Amino acid sequence: MSRRSPLRMPSLMPGLLLVLLCSSVAGAQTQSVDAKGHPWWQHAVFYEIYPRSFADSNNDGVGDLEGISSKMSYLHELGVDAIWIAPCYPSPQVDFGYDVADYRNIDPMYGNLADFDHMVAEGRKHRVRVILDFVPNHTSDQHPWFQDSKSSRTASHRDWYIWRDGKAPGQPPNNWISGFGGTAWTLDPTTNQYFYHIFYTQQPDLNWRNPAVEQVMLDTTRWWYKRGVSGFRLDAVDTLFEDPALHDNPVLPGTNKQGDPNMQDKNNKNFPEVHEVLRKLRKVADESGAVLIGETWTSNVAELDRYYGEDGNELQMPMDFMFTTVNKLSPPEFRRQIAAVDGTHGWPVFVIGNHDLVRSYNRYGDGKNNDAIAKLMGAFYLTLRGTPVMYYGEEIGMENNDPTRKEEVKDPIGRTGWPEEKGRDGERTPMQWNTAPNAGFSKRGPWLPVPPSYRTHNVASESKDTNSVLSLYRKVLALRHTNEALLEGSYTALNEDDPNVMSYLRSYKGKGVLVALNMSAAPQKAIFHLSQQGFGRAMPKALIASPAASVKGNEVTLEPFGLLIAEVNQ
Ligand code: GLC
Repeated sequence: MSRRSPLRMPSLMPGLLLVLLCSSVAGAQTQSVDAKGHPWWQHAVFYEIYPRSFADSNNDGVGDLEGISSKMSYLHELGVDAIWIAPCYPSPQVDFGYDVADYRNIDPMYGNLADFDHMVAEGRKHRVRVILDFVPNHTSDQHPWFQDSKSSRTASHRDWYIWRDGKAPGQPPNNWISGFGGTAWTLDPTTNQYFYHIFYTQQPDLNWRNPAVEQVMLDTTRWWYKRGVSGFRLDAVDTLFEDPALHDNPVLPGTNKQGDPNMQDKNNKNFPEVHEVLRKLRKVADESGAVLIGETWTSNVAELDRYYGEDGNELQMPMDFMFTTVNKLSPPEFRRQIAAVDGTHGWPVFVIGNHDLVRSYNRYGDGKNNDAIAKLMGAFYLTLRGTPVMYYGEEIGMENNDPTRKEEVKDPIGRTGWPEEKGRDGERTPMQWNTAPNAGFSKRGPWLPVPPSYRTHNVASESKDTNSVLSLYRKVLALRHTNEALLEGSYTALNEDDPNVMSYLRSYKGKGVLVALNMSAAPQKAIFHLSQQGFGRAMPKALIASPAASVKGNEVTLEPFGLLIAEVNQ
């Protein structure tokens, strides 16, 4: 049984606390810390929006910022406190915005800076903060910096990117491969040197060893904070630095989905210099009470822990992606993951889906009970100790809609990796608002097809159904905003030998919430002895429960995939 103290964040220095309380951050709808001194993001619920697919105000088939502005009341009523918008900067859209051509503007397909300001203002009215996506590792090959860099070996931006001679004629400088397939080096004929790109060839890596790059990037974050942004999600942070001597990576047995040899990314990922950059980005963020969320793919908890910084001076919110690797309803595996992340010295950040992952509806669903399982997963990760980052559409049980033919694929990884790798289009389809054509997302044919499930799984229909996935999400989110045990409480795993029912206690100052989740397809009973935790004299009182869940004394009965969230008293 693991028991953790409610809050083990580095305490804010009194001086800083005062600065944060008094700061009049343009983007702050409320103060940066609450009355009890919690930074604003700690109790917030975050929600990722893929802007191409959320709401299309000008009916061109692609979502836009005015579309997002028009949905602020939906987001607020759902219980969302901050939206993270995947990149909406000018971009040739090779990687759908993760190839940035100008870090300080908005792509015309999404609107302009005035629309951005309007969106921030609408967010402020509805108490929804705006977080942008920051892509520090690479730019688009169309960015003026790269255009200059490639123009000659003596160009002023030459050293802003990573250029090298080939090993021999026709041979790249080393064996590094791109995450998206093939060599990570492209020969540019103008100067007859190779440039490095850990992603697509159209996404050249910036050279973070050049202080000019660092300076302009830090200033860019400050520029957006002044414009009202409350933080950034930092893209692919582990890839910022490479071995300057360009040693080959060790080759492992087998090949990956793209057909490239498997490799250990020893010499082009996870350099300690990343942490220096994170500390600098954090210093700038602290000037505005802003939050930094990390796209932190880690293979173990020690690595995740390091992203908080030794003194809590790096990322406030490194996302725990190890949790997303538990791709089955396995209480023992979830217990292990939660206990590990609960043992870091920062505040946990839980995620079950995003624009790079098959939707949670499909990853956990068994094909028959997907709605019940979607509710179970919502009741689960939204009641853990930590901050959740939701993915748009998860709250209505949106499903993956993978392309069936190669010609339909938009995501380049799907084109290069077909048929084994179908790409990420399936999890990026338009938000399902109602039963109108195109699910109410747009009046025109959207950029990706709407899955057939929109007829039953959409905001309008589910709002009317008290038993829908959306209704369950709304109830759980409302509860977690007001219940102190859920907001602050420690996490204690219960009945750790039970292979079917995942259960835990959240407790704070004598108040407790018991969560019991039947992760199996058979009915289950679970008996709780909460006296060791100082609870249990009175019967648990259901706050949110699946239709057939019942409590008798200290025994909870749950139907297949049933759930119970109950108050327990001392
Ligand atoms: C991150 C993004 C992903 C993108 C990649 C390259 O992993 O989440 O969508 O393709 O970075 O920028």
